[in-house]
Amino acid sequence: MSNDQLIRETLAELEAVGNYARLRQFTQHGRHSVYAHSVSVAALALRIAERMPGAVDYRSLVRGALLHDYFLYDWHVKDKSRPNHALHHARLALENARRDYDINDIEADIIGCHMFPVVPTPPRTKEGWIVCMADKISAAGETVKRR
Ligand SMILES: [Fe+2]
Ligand SMILES: [Fe+2]
Repeated sequence: MSNDQLIRETLAELEAVGNYARLRQFTQHGRHSVYAHSVSVAALALRIAERMPGAVDYRSLVRGALLHDYFLYDWHVKDKSRPNHALHHARLALENARRDYDINDIEADIIGCHMFPVVPTPPRTKEGWIVCMADKISAAGETVKRR
């Protein structure tokens, strides 16, 4: 299966249940929705994984990447009742993902630890490290392209 196919099939699976389709409405960086950002992170994570030695759980890698920002609110809208976005959205995304999907340990590590080193809990899995890197590269690209 090609990377695109794997991403498309996983998206269809996630959109069939839960709140995944709502990510299309939320802006992430620049003009990119959280949905588009998550797809870019999954695509980049797959490209990084292909160049890494040793085994990678590709299915968990893609599911975790697609769900890493599943926090389900617009972080640009100020809301004092919400905890600090940078510090807490990974934990909130993991809580939402666990509520809506069956999340395995690798996926939980990817989602819950993707904000390292802002949040000082490093990933414990190879897949977690890959998405942590892919997220930072994608976020930088999306923010720069806005100008
Ligand atoms: Fe994030
Ligand atoms: Fe992200």
